Amino acid sequence: MNLDRLYNLSDVREAARKRLPKGIFEFIDRGAEDDEALAHNREAFRRIKARPQALLDVSQRSCEATMLGERFSMPMAIAPTGAAGLVWYQGEMELAKAAAATGIPFTIATRSMSSLEEIVALGGTLWYQLYVFTDRAQTWKLIDRVAGSGAKALLVTADVPVQPNREFNRRNGYTFPFKATPRSVIDMLRHPRWLIEVIGKYQRTTGIPQYEKMPEYAENLTFEDIRELRRRWPGQLLVKGILRADDAKKAVDCGADGVVVSNHGGRCLDVSAAPIDVLPEIVDAVGHRASVLMDSGVRRGTDIAKAVAFGAQGVLSGRPGLLGLSLAGQPGAEHVLGILRRELLIAMGQLGCAKLSELGPHLFGHPALIRSGRREHA
Ligand SMILES: Cc1cc2nc3c(=O)[nH]c(=O)nc-3n(C[C@H](O)[C@H](O)[C@H](O)COP(=O)(O)O)c2cc1C
Repeated sequence: MNLDRLYNLSDVREAARKRLPKGIFEFIDRGAEDDEALAHNREAFRRIKARPQALLDVSQRSCEATMLGERFSMPMAIAPTGAAGLVWYQGEMELAKAAAATGIPFTIATRSMSSLEEIVALGGTLWYQLYVFTDRAQTWKLIDRVAGSGAKALLVTADVPVQPNREFNRRNGYTFPFKATPRSVIDMLRHPRWLIEVIGKYQRTTGIPQYEKMPEYAENLTFEDIRELRRRWPGQLLVKGILRADDAKKAVDCGADGVVVSNHGGRCLDVSAAPIDVLPEIVDAVGHRASVLMDSGVRRGTDIAKAVAFGAQGVLSGRPGLLGLSLAGQPGAEHVLGILRRELLIAMGQLGCAKLSELGPHLFGHPALIRSGRREHA
């Protein structure tokens, strides 16, 4: 795969669409129900237009960022997905290596194929995404194990109170636990490169990986659990999947160190607001006493610049890394991270900013600020 000819994330997505079985590609790429939240996440970014500052010296630019008190090469982390092992042989390890080589955190998902300990051994900053189990005793046992591993932050997912409605997975014959159907088998046979490079390698070595067997996820997760997690978890505690200022305040009042403003990449509630639209009000509500990260729909360096300008310490990125990974393993994922970093540095230069701290809402006409009648910073 000649990565040099993939100039942006749309090119990467198109190449991944050809390589992956349709069922796996759609499992990663699509959202929920009618894909409205997915499209709206992009549309919300698109609506934000810049008023760049002219005639400033931007010859020396740096996009180094502090997230959760640690310094990184850019304001981005790999979002938890647990799908990397489906698109590349030992994909989670490859993606974690790409993150470490780029100098950004990797978030391992509860629903993961490689073990926590294997990934920790690779080095780099590790965050852990937690799905709380109905059986709380098992949850507390898991987070003790995570704390012992050296993971720096726990991201508790709050936006999957019930299983989302994703009809395309059923239509494609991709359900969990996976059961082969004629449709899914034909789909895989039509993608021989994936079959040989991913399934073939697993068969010759470790066998087809399975998700670690986990207890069922809680449908009764509440803010009381956040309080309890605060008592038990020694590191940074973030609540992931917040779209309201009042929820962000409650999370921080319960002891969270921060929130991830997210609609799960449009994969849960198909009518949910776009995170970039609600980011300013959440930063207003808790930004002075907590860390605010955001994700969902980041596909260009300009999107990262917008998120940082509106107060996010950084963004999480889910699909782009997975799709890059599916083309060439670690180098494919690194290629994607390199594109985003380069684009961010160009965006900063174009906006007249040498450092991330110079990005601010004054550079953009943000619909949320205009709607609420607030004056933008001059
Ligand atoms: C295939 C896939 C699996 C995901 N699995 C999880 C998960 O297990 N837990 C979680 O909190 N978020 C999960 N997410 C959501 C991501 O962490 C993140 O919020 C989202 O992908 C961000 O949007 P983006 O893909 O547009 O960057 C998943 C996303 C994808 C694409």
